[in-house]
Amino acid sequence: MSSLTDSYGRKHRDLRVSLTDRCSLRCAYCMPHDFSDWLKSEHLLNTDELMTVVSVAVAVGIEEIRLTGGEPLLRADIVEIVSRISALANAPSVSLTTNGLRLVQLAKPLAEAGLQRINVSLDTLDRSRFMALTHRDRIEDVFAGLHAAREAGLAPIKINSVLLKDINDDEAPSLLKWALAEGYSLRFIEQMPLDAGGIWDRATMVTADAILASLSEEFELAPVPGRGSSPAQEFYINGTQATVGIIASVTEPFCGACDRLRLTSDGQLRSCLFSLEEMDLRKVLRSLDYSQDQITQELSDRFYKAVAGKLPGHGINDPSFIQPRRPMSAIGG
Ligand code: 5AD
Ligand code: SF4
Repeated sequence: MSSLTDSYGRKHRDLRVSLTDRCSLRCAYCMPHDFSDWLKSEHLLNTDELMTVVSVAVAVGIEEIRLTGGEPLLRADIVEIVSRISALANAPSVSLTTNGLRLVQLAKPLAEAGLQRINVSLDTLDRSRFMALTHRDRIEDVFAGLHAAREAGLAPIKINSVLLKDINDDEAPSLLKWALAEGYSLRFIEQMPLDAGGIWDRATMVTADAILASLSEEFELAPVPGRGSSPAQEFYINGTQATVGIIASVTEPFCGACDRLRLTSDGQLRSCLFSLEEMDLRKVLRSLDYSQDQITQELSDRFYKAVAGKLPGHGINDPSFIQPRRPMSAIGG
């Protein structure tokens, strides 16, 4: 088996697969509430096309598939996708990042289909703040979804929180208390310039340092050594084995240890969230000139090309930084 090692020596093991750019929420840091620039549905990869790409990815060295969106649970074939990936020879581990709204219906079938781990996005515990942040009155569905995930035996359950100045940046300690009481593993993510609305502002973004300072007012935190390629720096809480993570994507980029590639729902392979270039896999999948073997060969070539062309870092902190044209919802988190 060849490996997806780039020119900086980084071996790529992790493929983030966005299943749709659609979402049932409108988180301010992701998309404007009146967003309408959706991908064309005929451009979305269907289940078989997706499985062809995932099989090739596994053959060239991918060991972990994370299903994302938009909101991946909006895909009607989500359970089938999880079960087909889990049934592959050399099956990769399968995880999912979701807003949680449909977990009440789907947690059990997903666990039965082979889903191993789950991340749920939740930025506040307060109903009116949730509405302000997401433009939808659905916080109770997230709580119910989280309970369903626990009942279904999905573990660990990770919570992703993004803090925004003057909206929920006072909520870090209460989110952590809640997560500890419920047995969820909490990670804060610095807001990145990936929103379709262009609201990101370096001057007002809530930094990892600010999050740490706010948590330290109520908890004693000690860094967990040996971070590896994990984007999150974890901290032990109050001398126990329980941890909280902080992902300093902007102020302390972890690009040097990056092992990820991303597939958009319309079949474009990206080597970074912030790439300005993409490898068109959809075109290969739908080409009438290729046999199935040629498709497989061309897809694996494009995986190697994407990795070979990967830049050393995302460059958010360079003066020449250009925000990618696609928002987070169309790239996949
Ligand atoms: N910055 C940081 N995190 C973001 N997410 C979505 N948009 C952004 C952004 N601009 C997070 C969501 C979700 C994960 C996939 O990415 O909260 O948890
Ligand atoms: Fe939907 Fe996730 Fe974007 Fe929120 S962050 S609007 S839940 S895709």
